[in-house]
Amino acid sequence: MLPPDFIASRDTILHDVADVEGHLSWKEMCFLCLLGAVPTARGSILEIGSFKGRSTVLLAKAAALAGDDRVHAVDPLNAPSSTDPDLGDANSSADDFHDNLHRKGVSERVTHHAMRSEELAPEWSEPLRLLWIDGDHTIEGTRRDLEGFRPFLADGAIVAIHDVLHAFEGGARVFAEDMLLSRHFGASGVVGSIAWSQYHADPAETERHRPAKLDLYRRVARLIPYVAFAGRPSPGLSKFGFKLARWRIPHGPMEPDRFVRMVEHRG
Ligand SMILES: C[S@@+](CC[C@H](N)C(=O)[O-])C[C@H]1O[C@@H](n2cnc3c(N)ncnc32)[C@H](O)[C@@H]1O
Repeated sequence: MLPPDFIASRDTILHDVADVEGHLSWKEMCFLCLLGAVPTARGSILEIGSFKGRSTVLLAKAAALAGDDRVHAVDPLNAPSSTDPDLGDANSSADDFHDNLHRKGVSERVTHHAMRSEELAPEWSEPLRLLWIDGDHTIEGTRRDLEGFRPFLADGAIVAIHDVLHAFEGGARVFAEDMLLSRHFGASGVVGSIAWSQYHADPAETERHRPAKLDLYRRVARLIPYVAFAGRPSPGLSKFGFKLARWRIPHGPMEPDRFVRMVEHRG
C-alpha cells in the first residue's frame, strides 16, 4: 500500500517543506507525510488549522503520491487563536500562507476555506479519508471539530490531532475520551505530539483493538489532571508529573511498514 520509493519521496518532500515556518517536528512531518500518502479510505483530506502552511504544503505533496490532486484547508488566518494569543488582532499568517503555497508549487492543489472550521462544517458534504485537527486547541474547539466532521468520516478514515502531548486541554481529552473510549475507533497511536486513530462505521471492526486502546487510554488520561480546565503544569513537582506522564506514553517514530500493517485498507 506504500507508494513506490516512498522513503525517498518523503525525504524530498520534508526537505522541501523544512523552510516553511510551522509547528511540526521532523518525526511528526514523517508521520503526516505517511498519512497523506497512504489512503486507508476513499475520500478527501481536510486540514483544520494551517497557520503559515507547513502541514498544508506537506499534505498536498504527500497526497499527490497517492494520486490525490487536492487537499482542503480551513483556517481564517487571523488571530487570536489559542495557539497564537500574542498576535492579538493582527492578520496572523494569510500573506505567508499564500506565499508559501505559491513558492512550493501547491497553490492549485489546495482549496483554502478562509473561515472557522465550525462555519465550514454545516456546509461540508464530501467524505473524508483524513481529518487533520490542528486548529482551536481548547476542549470545546477540538471536540467541535471532531463532532462537526465526524458524519463525513469514510469507513477506515484516519483522524489525527496535533499537540496532544503539549499543555493544551483539547487534544489529550478528545483523543482519550472521544476516540480511545469510542467503539467506532480502532487502530490508534501517538507519534511525537500527533495522536491518531482509525474510524470504523461498524463497531465490530474495532473490537480487537480494545486492549491496546484501553492501555493507551490509561496512559493519556494521566495527562488530563494537568491540562483540564485549561490548566498548565506549573513549575516544580507538577511539571515533573506532567513530563513523567508524557514519557509513559509511547510516542516514537512510526515505521511506514508497521502503519500499513496496523490499519485496515478501504481505499
Ligand atoms: C498551531 S496553528 C496550525 C499549524 C499548522 N498546522 C502547521 O503545520 O504549522 C493553529 C492554527 O489554527 C487556526 N485556528 C484556530 N481556531 C480555528 C478554527 N476554529 N477553525 C480553523 N482554524 C482555526 C489558527 O488561525 C492558527 O493558524
